[in-house]
Amino acid sequence: MGIVALQVSRAERQRGYIPYTRRPINWHTDGYYNGPDERIRAMVLHCVRPAEDGGVNQLLDPEIAYIRLRDRDPAHIKALMHPEAMTIPENREPDGTLRPVSIGPVFSIDPDGSLVMRYTARTRSISWRDTPETTAAVRALTEILNGDDPMMLTVRMKAGQGVLCNNVLHNRTGFDPDASAESRRLLFRVRFHNRVKGS
Ligand SMILES: [Fe+2]
Repeated sequence: MGIVALQVSRAERQRGYIPYTRRPINWHTDGYYNGPDERIRAMVLHCVRPAEDGGVNQLLDPEIAYIRLRDRDPAHIKALMHPEAMTIPENREPDGTLRPVSIGPVFSIDPDGSLVMRYTARTRSISWRDTPETTAAVRALTEILNGDDPMMLTVRMKAGQGVLCNNVLHNRTGFDPDASAESRRLLFRVRFHNRVKGS
């Protein structure tokens, strides 16, 4: 897969995509809108140049989120493993291509026993399965992500630093708020369909 440069962009193709703006990004795993055959299981973020101000990431291992949810109520896990738990509707991309609807679970288990998580905290262009159990599970997960779990990491990557992970939950604060000044923040991102070997 290719290396993507994440930086503030005015390019037509990228206009409208939050990663290419200075705005905060809510909790998600990468590729949550992909189909089941295109799950993102690992990714790399490499910081070439940090923001002057902000651009902080929080990270949480999906296995911790799973454990916290199960400890609250095993029914949350059952609801989020339902094959129709989360639907991302089809979307016309700025470049004109149509991304098909993506329906699937939040948590799934790979044949090798590893946990895969597909999640976004976005509230627009998403529909959750309309059951009380799903609503309760999503609310519990939101509370966990907005809490201060001791296993949650907060990192402000310096130049040359990076994250290599099995597509953990992550977010980003906004950065370089002065829109009249250029932001030099530059991160490279690579996504993989397979997990980090041996992890
Ligand atoms: Fe991401």
